[in-house]
Amino acid sequence: MHSAIVWNNILLFSGFVLLISCAPKEEQDHTPTPYHLDIPAGFSEMKIPADNPMTVEAVELGHRLFFDPILSKDYSISCASCHLPSHAFADTTAVSRGVHQERIGNRNSPSLANVGYLNALFMEGGVPSLELQVLAPLGERNEMDLQLTEAVARLNQDSSYVQLAKKAYNREIDPWLITRALAAYQRSLISGNSPFDQYAYQGKEDAISQEAKNGWLRFQAFNCNACHTGFMFTNQGYFNIGLEEEYSDPGRGRLTDKPEDHGKFRVPSLRNVAVTAPYMHDGSLKSLSEVIDHFASGGKSHENKSPLISGFKIDEQGKKELIAFLESLTDQNFIQKHEALNVTSQSNR
Ligand code: HEC
Ligand code: HEC
Repeated sequence: MHSAIVWNNILLFSGFVLLISCAPKEEQDHTPTPYHLDIPAGFSEMKIPADNPMTVEAVELGHRLFFDPILSKDYSISCASCHLPSHAFADTTAVSRGVHQERIGNRNSPSLANVGYLNALFMEGGVPSLELQVLAPLGERNEMDLQLTEAVARLNQDSSYVQLAKKAYNREIDPWLITRALAAYQRSLISGNSPFDQYAYQGKEDAISQEAKNGWLRFQAFNCNACHTGFMFTNQGYFNIGLEEEYSDPGRGRLTDKPEDHGKFRVPSLRNVAVTAPYMHDGSLKSLSEVIDHFASGGKSHENKSPLISGFKIDEQGKKELIAFLESLTDQNFIQKHEALNVTSQSNR
């Protein structure tokens, strides 16, 4: 019982000792069922941390937690309130509302599709794992504003959670388990069956229109794939694209404190991009048309702007084609599957 992990938790989360002492006695061991990750054609294998293997029970527990407003201070929002399954787990507003219906933050809620493939989380890349990332929205005053000890206490009062926790990790509910389960669930959010995938990786010539095919050629001709490359359509690098002359959000600069990182943000994946408007770190561009106008203009001048953002000429037809290509990256199978699995009561928005 007193493993190194438990001791770490005791050090990290004061008040936790109390919760251990009144926890129920260990029951019989359960062996969880391995979860089969369906890796799409063209994708690489996903790295799974050794201390959090993918199991059916862990994913199920994380799934329930993700949609449950029990994890917010006033029981008003869940992870899914800002990461909407109907929009590939992104939000439809520039900045999301946290608990108490406050308008918050200066960042747009990103899509969580394929989030298990990211090397580092957040737009400046400051968080190394999905397990650690969970602590941010939970603890953030303007997001869910819930102490971990309180989350543990609440969940322990629900016998169905206690049972599920036993089945998944063979232990009581604690911060370790909450972060592991939510991370496991998010690793299961793999999206790789868009019409473009069917065309490019599954040999279905007709899966996308001629317009989209022309758009794909333009995407390459305009060097978009210098940054939006690979099966994720991102090289996961950090760039300033001249969105602002003066950035109020320093982006990567917030992490490194280096002037040369000011206004640099991680290149976002373009998968499902047609359903994740508004765009950019601050949600300041409303449509794909506005995004293309931005890149075509070459952006605003900024000392850190990437030399790759230098502008180009594009007419209405070209724009239509580029948008048709971007739209071909929408994986309706993924969206419909997760909409159907949406277990939130719709009342919390
Ligand atoms: C109030 C809205 C809100 C809630 C609630 C919320 N998030 Fe987020 N989430 C965001 C925003 C905004 C960002 C972007 C933050 C950044 O990059 O600095 C984000 C980023 C993330 C990321 C990083 C994605 C990336 O591309 O790096 C993950 C993973 C994530 N959230 C998971 C969760 C989980 C799990 C929960 C529930 C425990 C949750 N979020 C609750 C708004 C929210
Ligand atoms: C130098 C690297 C680079 C190049 C080249 C580039 N992008 Fe991006 N792109 C980025 C970065 C970085 C962001 C996020 C910027 C931010 O949030 O401030 C972004 C954002 C976007 C977004 C918004 C996605 C979202 O979810 O908010 C779209 C769409 C997009 N780019 C499409 C394109 C297209 C089309 C081209 C070619 C015309 C292109 N990009 C060229 C780096 C690049």
